[in-house]
Amino acid sequence: MVKVDLDKVKEIVEKVKQETLEEGDILINTLHAIQDYYNNFVPPEAAEEVAKLLNIPVSRVYEVLSFYSMFSIKPRGKYVIRVCKSLPCHVTGGREVMEALKNKLGIEIGETTADGMFTLETTSCLGLCGVAPVIMINDQSFGNLTPEKIDEIIERFRGDENA
Ligand code: FES
Repeated sequence: MVKVDLDKVKEIVEKVKQETLEEGDILINTLHAIQDYYNNFVPPEAAEEVAKLLNIPVSRVYEVLSFYSMFSIKPRGKYVIRVCKSLPCHVTGGREVMEALKNKLGIEIGETTADGMFTLETTSCLGLCGVAPVIMINDQSFGNLTPEKIDEIIERFRGDENA
């Protein structure tokens, strides 16, 4: 269980408020910043504090958290791998890429490796069909993938914290 530092949440909210030009973007930008701070997830206690600080219903915060697949309220790995499952990626080797990832990491979709390094997820089209099949690791994209390239990429991330 992650210990949520409410002062830190307040600090993040204040900073985002100052840096966000459009009022309507404050909630989503805050949730992004909190998710970055907590290594790829938004702890429920932090979500509730955000609602309080922004003076909005908690249900609104959860609505946004569940609408966007990039958010999670469950702890995830340091690196979230999202495999595109839309048709152009699927027919150009996406299935093999997914199998290679499952084998390499020893986990299924929705799971996190025991060392807390990787979480495996799927996503719909990332708009990069020209270089299908595609995956994203946090905010970096990788295209024209093969099972061999997967091996190389995962080794790189395992070996280099800043891959
Ligand atoms: S279908 Fe995979 S990026 Fe478009």
